[in-house]
Amino acid sequence: MNYAHRFHAGNFADVHKHLVLTALLMRLSEKPSPWFYLDTHAGEGLYPLANLSPQGRNEFESGVAPIFQAPIDNPVVRTYQALLHRFNPEATLACYPGSPLVAAALARTGDRLVATEWVPERAQTLRGNLARGPVNVHCRDGYEALGAFLPPREQRGVILIDPPYESMRETEPLLRALSRALARFPHGIYLIWHPGVDPAFVSGLRRKLQTLGDVTFLDWQTSRRQGLRGSGLAVFNLPHGLAARLDQVWQSLGGIYATTLGPVEFVQTESPKKRMTGRIRKMLP
Ligand SMILES: C[S@@+](CC[C@H](N)C(=O)[O-])C[C@H]1O[C@@H](n2cnc3c(N)ncnc32)[C@H](O)[C@@H]1O
Repeated sequence: MNYAHRFHAGNFADVHKHLVLTALLMRLSEKPSPWFYLDTHAGEGLYPLANLSPQGRNEFESGVAPIFQAPIDNPVVRTYQALLHRFNPEATLACYPGSPLVAAALARTGDRLVATEWVPERAQTLRGNLARGPVNVHCRDGYEALGAFLPPREQRGVILIDPPYESMRETEPLLRALSRALARFPHGIYLIWHPGVDPAFVSGLRRKLQTLGDVTFLDWQTSRRQGLRGSGLAVFNLPHGLAARLDQVWQSLGGIYATTLGPVEFVQTESPKKRMTGRIRKMLP
């Protein structure tokens, strides 16, 4: 297991993924009944940003740094910023919270959270970073956990599947496990991250994902030539109205990434089954 998220934490792919996660959990919290969250590839949870290599610095400086203090009038962005400040109380960006800590920060009493991480030392670090928080951490295979924890008794929830894609064959266990998970818990909201670099890989994965159900694709990309240039999220069962709410999120980011990422394009591709707007494109600034 060579991939270590600590060298990439807080890059724009993380910001994009965690803003979508924030919007989804905020939406579920609009109803009083408890929700369930499963993070299959959880990582270490909290990542120090000091002492990173120049490449690592570059990733978070063009990702979380511009949004950290920016005055942005959008409820999802404000919630995300508030949780960043909870982990950085000195108002300087010293660490970045990963997905299990983002979800834990948004959980209410009664919500139930499970995180699985394959690497024992990382699972141990995650437990320490959660400091007896509301997340149950298991050191086990995340794909196998989909079978073990679904369907949840809450009958509503978000499942984040965020593999490292060390090999492009990662999609084989991913699609097998996802297909079984959708059969066990068809109404769950599944959020699957994928890299955006290789168009053939992305379109191949999407064709297969579309055979599994009602999926919306949320992408961002830049035209810069070096470093991270884009990534995507496939969302099964995106709640009604969330695409429009997310569109406002991307709109609200305005020009804050102009100097770090260059023009950023956000593309939301709705499932054809929904017969909705189809593609929403936003180019900022
Ligand atoms: C991209 S990182 C996770 C980042 C995290 N989801 C976040 O947003 O902060 C992927 C993690 O998955 C772990 N991993 C790799 N294969 C796994 C598997 N089969 N089951 C569970 N965890 C796995 C890696 O050790 C790594 O920590």
